[in-house]
Amino acid sequence: MISQKLQDAFNLQINKELYSEYFYLSIAAYCYSLDLDGVANFFMVQTQEEHFHAMKMFNFLTDLGGRVILKHIDEPPVEFKSVIEIFEKTLAHEQIVTKSINDLMDLALKENDHASASFLKWFVDEQVEEEATVTKLLSKLKLIKGEGHGMLMIDAELAARVFTPPAAA
Ligand SMILES: [Fe+2]
Ligand SMILES: [Fe+2]
Repeated sequence: MISQKLQDAFNLQINKELYSEYFYLSIAAYCYSLDLDGVANFFMVQTQEEHFHAMKMFNFLTDLGGRVILKHIDEPPVEFKSVIEIFEKTLAHEQIVTKSINDLMDLALKENDHASASFLKWFVDEQVEEEATVTKLLSKLKLIKGEGHGMLMIDAELAARVFTPPAAA
């Protein structure tokens, strides 16, 4: 049986994943307002991933006989200065989530909860990938200063992104 302390920590993480979904949805809305449909699509896929993360934890906690307690979701930012700023904020946000997943893993290990530690390993790996993707895009955006033809090319590239739910999830 999962401890109450770990349940509370999982519930907090579910809230963070749902906030992430909301945050990226707000970014997508902003990008659509600028007719950057490709960048918007990238963030729409991101919202699906974050929803998937929240539900993965929701199901895990439920399977263990724990209780999911949903909390208030904070209002996301709605205005942004540039696409570069959007990706900077995205990277900073993912770094906070990584820290939070690591803290959750620390707690699972401290409590010798092997099921939770094994489950969380997927999230540890996922965060490495998320940070790498955003870091690479941010570097490209800085190269082209987020403007002109380069920006249109990146917008076209990001239009092709589709959500593929992990098979073994
Ligand atoms: Fe996530
Ligand atoms: Fe994420």
